[in-house]
Order: sequence, then structure tokens, then C-alpha cells
Amino acid sequence: MKRPVFAANWKMHHGPTDAREFMRAFLAHYPRQDDRTVLFLPPALALHVVGELTRERSDIVVGVQNIYWEDKGAFTGEISAPIARDAGARVVLVGHSERRHIFGETDEQTGLKCAAAARAGLTPMLCVGEQLEEREQGDTESVVLRQLRAGIAGLQPAQVAGMLFAYEPVWAIGTGRNATPADASAVHAAIRGALRVVVGDKAAKVPILYGGSVNRGNAAALVRAPEVDGVLVGGASLDAGGWAAIARA
Ligand code: PGA
Repeated sequence: MKRPVFAANWKMHHGPTDAREFMRAFLAHYPRQDDRTVLFLPPALALHVVGELTRERSDIVVGVQNIYWEDKGAFTGEISAPIARDAGARVVLVGHSERRHIFGETDEQTGLKCAAAARAGLTPMLCVGEQLEEREQGDTESVVLRQLRAGIAGLQPAQVAGMLFAYEPVWAIGTGRNATPADASAVHAAIRGALRVVVGDKAAKVPILYGGSVNRGNAAALVRAPEVDGVLVGGASLDAGGWAAIARA
């Protein structure tokens, strides 16, 4: 039996006031479910609100969407892994496609961020995914595995075994065009194969989430697909009732 992870990436939506209202509505729609985990990735400034309102809920975890890789210092505007951990985050997204493509985050930087997270006791969720041209050229697997290897380069195998991964094809993010369950399964199998080389049989237990235009209509089929251990959801996680319905999928 898998224990799926339903992750809400709010991106740059829902500050503390909206987050409080959202969480009250969500918690009313979503009683505790012990067969799955719900992960919230709000903007960092709303983390405390989500953490506070879910303190009694061991089925709900909170995290941040980004960190800087140095532990402390003169890096105006950045948040370190130890600061995020101290503020209540347990997970951090690393290498999200918007970080890579809008902010120019490189493979090497994702490796530094995953290592910084692990040092601070934060679980990195490394996001990987190909662009449309790469898929059309048959390069999906090589791109995804290159991103994967770079992201885990600075970690010990035991740390890699404790990570989360998300396969998010760039062409599927925010476009309304999701990968089919079969397409997702195929890429997840390749990711798991690469993880097996590093962590052996423990790879079977490493959660690999699918993300990219997940919604109420397609979430259940994606979560049930072989090798898919949950979903990472952007747009469809912004409405409390809709997100509760997805998390119950
Ligand atoms: P989307 O975003 O669900 O809006 O496609 C997913 C993500 O970027 O994590």
C-alpha cells in the first residue's frame, strides 16, 4: 500500500490573511486521513499561519518553495535552510521549473540547495522535468536524469533515500495539458531506476510525485498510476474546497 503525498504549491498566492481563511475552510472540508499526507508550500511569509492552524494534524506537513544554499551571511532577501526549518518548514521545493526558467536556477545550484536542506534537517523535494522540444526530440529521460543526478550530487545515499522527488514536465505546468498516467509512470520508473543505483532497494519507498495541470478530474487516475506516489499541484490547490476534493482523491 502506498501512502500518497498531496502537495499544494501555492506559488506567489495567499499571504497570511488569505492563508488563514483558506486553512479554516480546508480543515472544515478535510478531516484527518491517515492513509495519505497533505503538504502545504505557501509563500514563506504565510508559513507560520499554515503551521499554526495544522499543529494538531500529523497528516499535514508544511514547507517552503525555495531556499538559498548558504546557511547564513550577507545575502539580502534570501532565506536559508536553517531559518526555514526554525520557522516550521519540514520540506523545501528545489529546482521547480519556475525557479529554473524564470530565475535561471542551474542544475549545480539545485545540488547546493538540496545539500543545504539536508544539512539543516529539511527534506528537499527535487523537481525535474523536460521542456516540450526536449520531449519531442526524445530527450525526456536524459534531461530528467541529468537534473536528478545534479540535484543529489552533494548528498549521501542515506540522505537521498529520505528525499522527495517531483516529475513536472515543463509543458504541463499551468497549461491545462497534463501528462497521461502512462507517460508519468514511464518517467517515474526511469527516475526510480536511477535512484536504485544510489540507494538500492530503498528506492522503492522514495516518493516520486507527478505535477503539471493536476486537477479534480485527473488527480485520482494519476495518483493510482504505477510508480506515482502523489501529486504536486499549483493552480488547483488555490481553492480550499477544490483542494480538499483533490486531496481526498
Ligand atoms: P500547475 O502547477 O498545477 O498549476 O500546473 C504545478 C506546479 O508548478 O507545481
